[in-house]
Amino acid sequence: MRLFRNCFALSAFFLITQYALGGHGLPSCKDVSPEPQHVFDFIVVGAGPGGGPLAGRLAESGYSVLVVDAGQNVETLDVTIPAYFNFVLSDPVVALNYTIHEYPPDFEFQSNNTWYPRAQAVGGCAIHNALTNCVAGLKPNFDLLETTFDDPSWKLDNMWDYFVRIERNSYLPQPNPDHGFHGWLGTIGGPVTPSNGSDSQLNDITIGLANSAPNVLDINTRASPPNFTMTSLSNTVNSTNERSSVKERLHQVQRDHPGKLTFALGTLATKVLICQPDGDSQAPQAYGLQVAPNASLPVSDQFTRKVELNFTHYYARHEVIVSAGLFQSPQLLMLSGIGNKTNLESFGIEPIVDLPGVGQNLRDNDEIPTTWLLKQNPPAGNCTFGTDPATDPCLAAWDAAAPKHDGTPYTPAVGFPEALVWQSVDGLDDPDVLQYWVPAWDMGYVSDPGFFINGFSAITLKGHASSRGYVRLTGSHPQDVLDIQKLHFQPVDSPDIQRDLAALRGGIRTARQVVQLPHIAEHSLQEVNPGSDVQTDEELNEYIFEHIFAHHGCCTNKMGADDDNEAVLDGRFRVRSVSSLRVVDMSSWPDAPGFFPTTPMYMLSEKAADLILEDTQRYY
Ligand SMILES: Cc1cc2nc3c(=O)[nH]c(=O)nc-3n(C[C@H](O)[C@H](O)[C@H](O)COP(=O)(O)OP(=O)(O)OC[C@H]3O[C@@H](n4cnc5c(N)ncnc54)[C@H](O)[C@@H]3O)c2cc1C
Ligand SMILES: *[C@@H]1O[C@H](CO)[C@@H](O)[C@H](O)[C@H]1NC(C)=O
Ligand SMILES: *[C@@H]1O[C@H](CO)[C@@H](O)[C@H](O)[C@H]1NC(C)=O
Ligand SMILES: *[C@@H]1O[C@H](CO)[C@@H](O)[C@H](O)[C@H]1NC(C)=O
Ligand SMILES: *[C@@H]1O[C@H](CO)[C@@H](O)[C@H](O)[C@H]1NC(C)=O
Ligand SMILES: *[C@@H]1O[C@H](CO)[C@@H](O)[C@H](O)[C@H]1NC(C)=O
Ligand SMILES: *[C@@H]1O[C@H](CO)[C@@H](O)[C@H](O)[C@H]1NC(C)=O
Ligand SMILES: *[C@@H]1O[C@H](CO)[C@@H](O)[C@H](O)[C@H]1NC(C)=O
Ligand SMILES: *[C@@H]1O[C@H](CO)[C@@H](O)[C@H](O)[C@H]1NC(C)=O
Ligand SMILES: *[C@@H]1O[C@H](CO)[C@@H](O)[C@H](O)[C@H]1NC(C)=O
Repeated sequence: MRLFRNCFALSAFFLITQYALGGHGLPSCKDVSPEPQHVFDFIVVGAGPGGGPLAGRLAESGYSVLVVDAGQNVETLDVTIPAYFNFVLSDPVVALNYTIHEYPPDFEFQSNNTWYPRAQAVGGCAIHNALTNCVAGLKPNFDLLETTFDDPSWKLDNMWDYFVRIERNSYLPQPNPDHGFHGWLGTIGGPVTPSNGSDSQLNDITIGLANSAPNVLDINTRASPPNFTMTSLSNTVNSTNERSSVKERLHQVQRDHPGKLTFALGTLATKVLICQPDGDSQAPQAYGLQVAPNASLPVSDQFTRKVELNFTHYYARHEVIVSAGLFQSPQLLMLSGIGNKTNLESFGIEPIVDLPGVGQNLRDNDEIPTTWLLKQNPPAGNCTFGTDPATDPCLAAWDAAAPKHDGTPYTPAVGFPEALVWQSVDGLDDPDVLQYWVPAWDMGYVSDPGFFINGFSAITLKGHASSRGYVRLTGSHPQDVLDIQKLHFQPVDSPDIQRDLAALRGGIRTARQVVQLPHIAEHSLQEVNPGSDVQTDEELNEYIFEHIFAHHGCCTNKMGADDDNEAVLDGRFRVRSVSSLRVVDMSSWPDAPGFFPTTPMYMLSEKAADLILEDTQRYY
C-alpha cells in the first residue's frame, strides 16, 4: 500500500537538516510495509489538554486519528463531581506519582515537597486538576512567540479567538466579545459573592476578601486586569455542575464522526518509528509509533517491575503528534533517538537527530502558601464524599437535583476561590502575581500534609518564574524512571531569581495585610505558616526555600528560533530536522503560560490543529 502520498512535496518542505546525523541505521522509507489495519492518518500520543483538542479537530475534519494513552477512560464520581477532586489524586487507576528533586544536592536548603502528581487518562491531568479556568497573564507568552517567529498570528488578540471558539460559558450574558458560548469547554464563574453556605465565618471572610481591593468580576478578558484588583476565578464546569474537560469533547467527536477517532488505551508508547527518505538532503521522517499494550509507566500503581515488553506498531499516513506531557514527551523523543547526542549515546541509544534542548528548560510557576487558624471549626456537615447515596446524604441531594445539580452541598460554589492580581515590578503590561485563597489549610502537593480542619490559606502564585531545570533519562528502557531536576532558584544570586523571591515575599506580606481587614480579622486566630515571627527578607526566603511548590510544569521541548540551540520545535510545533513529527503539549511552550495552564494549553492545541490541517491540505 502507498503509505506516503506525495512524499516528495512533504520532504521538500523540511530541508533544514543541520541537526540530523548521518550514518544511522534507519530503514529506508520505501521499505516500510505497514499492516493495513494499523494505519491511521494521524497518531496522537496522549489524550490530555495537549493532544486531546487537536485529535478531536483532526477527526472532525475527516481524518482517521489514533489516540494512544497509557491511562483509561475514567468516569467515577471523583472525576465528575468537582468537589471530589482531591480524592482523584489518590485514585490508583489515574495517579502518576512522580518524584522530583527541587534543588541540586549542594544547595544549602532542601525541600520535602518532592511529590509531583500527574494523571493518566482520557483527558490527562484535566480529569483530576483543580478546575481553575484562567487565561489571564498570557500576554508575555504570546508576545514572546510573536517576536521569536515574527508571526502576528501569535498576538494575544488572535490567540484569544481560540478561547472564544472552545468556551461554552454558562455565567455571562451573550454576546460578549471575550467569551464563547457554543464551544466544548463548559465554564462557570461570576461575581465574588458569599456562597450562602451554612458557614457564616467563611461567608464573612469572602466579603472581607472582596473588599480588600477594587473588584473585577471577570478575570478572563482580552484587556489585562488592572493592577492590584480582586477578581473572581472561573472553573471548567459545565451547565450541569459537573467537571468539563477535553474528555467529553473526544467522546462527542467519536459519536458524531463514527470510525474517525480510535483509542488505544492502557497502552504505553515506547518509540516514534523513523525512516530515511531517499536522498541525503531529506530529513528523517516519522512514520509510526511503537507501543507496548498493557504496559505501565513506572510511576503508576499498575507497575510492578520492568519487564521485557511486547511491541505493536501503528503507522501514520501523515504525522505523529507527541502530547505525552512535560516529562514523558521528552522521554519519548529521547528513546526515539532525538535529543542530546552525548547523553543518548551514554545510554546506548543511537542518536538520529542531535537536539540538545530535549528535556532542558523545565519551567513552572512558583507557589508559596501563607496559612492561618480560624477561630471556629467549620460546621461538620454530613457530607462523606462517598459513592453511595444511601450513606452520603450530600450525594443523595446531588442525585436528587439531577440533571442540573443546583443548590446542593457538592454544587460548586462561587465565592472562594477569589484571586488578587498585581504586578510585582513596575513597567509590566500584565499582572505577574496571582494570589488565590482557599478555605482550608493548604501547603500544596505534599505527601504528608498533616491536617487541621479550621484553616484557611493564601497561595501566592508567581507567574513567569525564572527557574529552569531538566528531565533526563536514567536508562534506555521505556519503564526506567526519569531524573527530574527542578534546579529551583539556581543560581540564587542571579537578578531574575532575586526578583522571583522578592515577588513571593511581597505576596506573603500582602496576604498578612489582607487578613487584618474587617470581616477577616475577627475570624483569624493566628498565622501558622510561615508564622508571625518570620519577618525579615532572610527569614522569609528561608521559609520560601523550604515550602515552595508548583504543579504547572512545562517547556521541556520548547518552540524556539532557528538560531536557538535549545529550541526543539519550530513555530509550527514541528520537531526540528525530523519530518512528520510534532510535539503539542505543555512541553512545547518556551515559558510557563500565564497563571494556570490548562485552558491556555487547550488554546495552543487548537492552534496546532489549524497548522496541521493547513500543512496537510498543502503538502500531502
Ligand atoms: C493536581 C493538579 C492540579 C492542577 N490544577 C490545575 C488547575 O486548576 N488549572 C489549570 O489550568 N491547570 C491545573 N493543573 C495543570 C494541568 O492540568 C496540566 O498542566 C495539563 O493537564 C498538562 O497537559 P498535557 O497535555 O501537557 O499533559 P497531561 O495532562 O499530563 O497528559 C498527558 C497524557 O499522556 C499520557 N502519556 C504519557 N506518557 C505516555 C506514554 N509513554 N504512552 C502513552 N500515553 C502516555 C498520560 O497518560 C496522559 O493522559 C493541575 C495539575 C495537577 C497535577
Ligand atoms: C457535563 O459533564 C459530564 C461529565 O463531567 C457529562 O456526563 C455531562 O453530559 C455534561 N453535561 C452537559 C450538559 O454538558
Ligand atoms: C501517590 O502519592 C500520594 C501521596 O503520597 C498517595 O496518597 C497516593 O496513594 C499515591 N498513589 C499511588 C497510586 O501510588
Ligand atoms: C444568597 O441568598 C440571597 C438571599 O436569599 C440571594 O439573593 C443570593 O442570590 C444568594 N447568592 C447565591 C450565590 O446563591
Ligand atoms: C492486554 O490485556 C487485555 C485484557 O486483560 C488482553 O485481552 C490482551 O490480550 C492483552 N494484550 C497483550 C498484548 O498482552
Ligand atoms: C510477551 O509475550 C510473551 C509470549 O506471548 C508472554 O509470555 C509475556 O507475558 C508477554 N509480556 C508482556 C509484558 O505482556
Ligand atoms: C549534552 O549533554 C552533555 C552531558 O550532559 C553536556 O555536557 C553537553 O553540554 C550537552 N550538549 C549541549 C549542546 O547542550
Ligand atoms: C445532618 O443530618 C442531620 C440528621 O439527618 C440533619 O438534622 C442535619 O440538618 C444535617 N446537617 C446538614 C448540615 O445538612
Ligand atoms: C502594582 O501594585 C503593586 C502592589 O500594590 C505595586 O507594588 C506596584 O508598584 C504597582 N505597579 C504599577 C505599575 O502600578
Ligand atoms: C523534611 O523532613 C525532615 C525529616 O522528616 C524534617 O526533619 C524536616 O524538618 C523537613 N523539612 C521541612 C522543610 O519540612
